[in-house]
Amino acid sequence: MIIAANWKMNPDLETAGMLASRLAGISFGNVKRVLFAPHPYIIPMSIRLAQSDITLGGQDCHTAESGAHTGDVSALMLRDSGATMVLVGHSERRSDHGEDDALIMAKANAALAHNLDVMICVGETRNDREAGNAESVVLAQLQGSIPKAMDPARLIVAYEPVWAIGTGLVPSSEDIAAMHENISSWLSSAFPNRGDTHIPVLYGGSVKPGNAAEILSLPAVDGALVGGASLDADGFEAICAAA
Ligand code: G3H
Repeated sequence: MIIAANWKMNPDLETAGMLASRLAGISFGNVKRVLFAPHPYIIPMSIRLAQSDITLGGQDCHTAESGAHTGDVSALMLRDSGATMVLVGHSERRSDHGEDDALIMAKANAALAHNLDVMICVGETRNDREAGNAESVVLAQLQGSIPKAMDPARLIVAYEPVWAIGTGLVPSSEDIAAMHENISSWLSSAFPNRGDTHIPVLYGGSVKPGNAAEILSLPAVDGALVGGASLDADGFEAICAAA
């Protein structure tokens, strides 16, 4: 099980330090925990988490290693700052910054070139689901954004229905399980030589302490990517405990 906290553009630095200290103070056996922190917090969080088993990641990276890209952050910079993972293709990057699958694949390749593990987000909009296109949209995103030649041991997929993010809405358990089975099946075809390597598929979108146990018990759900609830130490601990 992997439980990942995505703080997004939150919180202030003092609160971040307190949250990280709480996370670092508790271990959850077989639950691997990941923290995607805002870029300015990567170094202070790496110091706070140095003695913990929490994986630290960035929330995005540029495709280039360096250059005239004001405001951007490279995979090399993340790696040098203490991150070992990066999140790419989050729907907020896709919608706020117009990122498409080709760009997301290029970002994933940049991350891999600097030995970062990569969590790639996919997910359908409400319109896609209502039109009956959820599966085809998600499989097209997988096809377009996951580098074909990548080491599958470095890949994690996060399925996040866009309409479930931050809304309190969650797909039915049947729909989550069905999509995860489809994604797992696609990954098996895409990486036929992966041997014993299991590519985790996380669910994200309004995961809370109250629904975590049910979601995490579903077939082919290997964990959760948690946004809002990760900003509350008690809530995040409860989700880890449910795993
Ligand atoms: O990255 C996290 C997801 O966007 C889910 O966010 O838990 O606030 O719905 P949420």
